[in-house]
Amino acid sequence: MMNTITDKEFTRFQRFIYDAAGITLSPAKKALVCGRLSKRLQAHQLKSYGEYLELLDSGHVADEVQTAVDLLTTNETYFFREPKHFDLLRMLARAAAPRAQPFRVWSAASSSGEECYSIAMVLADCMPTGHWEVVGSDISKRVLQRARRGHYPIERTRHIPADYLKRFCLRGTGEQEGTLLVDRTLRNRVTFAQVNLNEELPGLGQFDVVFLRNVMIYFNGDTKRQVVARVLSTVKPGGHFCIGHSESLNDISTAVQQLAPSIYRKP
Ligand SMILES: C[S@@+](CC[C@H](N)C(=O)[O-])C[C@H]1O[C@@H](n2cnc3c(N)ncnc32)[C@H](O)[C@@H]1O
Repeated sequence: MMNTITDKEFTRFQRFIYDAAGITLSPAKKALVCGRLSKRLQAHQLKSYGEYLELLDSGHVADEVQTAVDLLTTNETYFFREPKHFDLLRMLARAAAPRAQPFRVWSAASSSGEECYSIAMVLADCMPTGHWEVVGSDISKRVLQRARRGHYPIERTRHIPADYLKRFCLRGTGEQEGTLLVDRTLRNRVTFAQVNLNEELPGLGQFDVVFLRNVMIYFNGDTKRQVVARVLSTVKPGGHFCIGHSESLNDISTAVQQLAPSIYRKP
């Protein structure tokens, strides 16, 4: 029989993921927490979520906090999600192509890498000089492992334009039937790092474009303001900042000018 979470235990999980990642879990997420963590109770042969919380607090099991963070984050993503941002990227990359210094793009909550490889495909296409860099980062180690592999079920890749599929992807055969591997040359051009946006950022340098898409929805107003300020400090003057279509910077930041819904430019 599946264990249930008491209200008190749920409050402790809310605090756990808020402290670890800045994520605010609404009471409606109780069943989700229950479902996602039930296998950890089994793995450690625990009888209740309270015992699991004790285990997390004790710090006795290496990596259990990371495992819980991995399970409590929502990693939904796909290639060329919200295509308007890739049209913008194409335009910016073509305009920057003749310059000598690299055109740098950061996918700041990259999940399993589809966003980074979509960016890399556009840059490889529009900047034949090869003077570009893509950095992907996420708090979840589990999705970063998938991102580095660059190996996806074929049904997740249907938005990749046909010519990019031919140029940058390998279709699996035999045992790999039904999968797609991003070509090694492109994979080698993308760097992944574990970054918690809710903490001081590591030195990633300055970027021409930053994608911070579909992650702010999990943060409360104060956390959004802090994360956006941190991330915007890495955007070059004149650089661009893209957020998810369902997100907004209203009451969050005035440091950038809005060019279109979900697209901003740093003066
Ligand atoms: C829904 S996915 C969005 C992926 C991609 N940007 C997109 O729009 O398709 C949200 C990602 O944000 C990550 N995330 C959540 N809190 C984070 C934090 N504090 N720091 C870094 N990444 C975080 C999650 O692990 C998850 O992979």
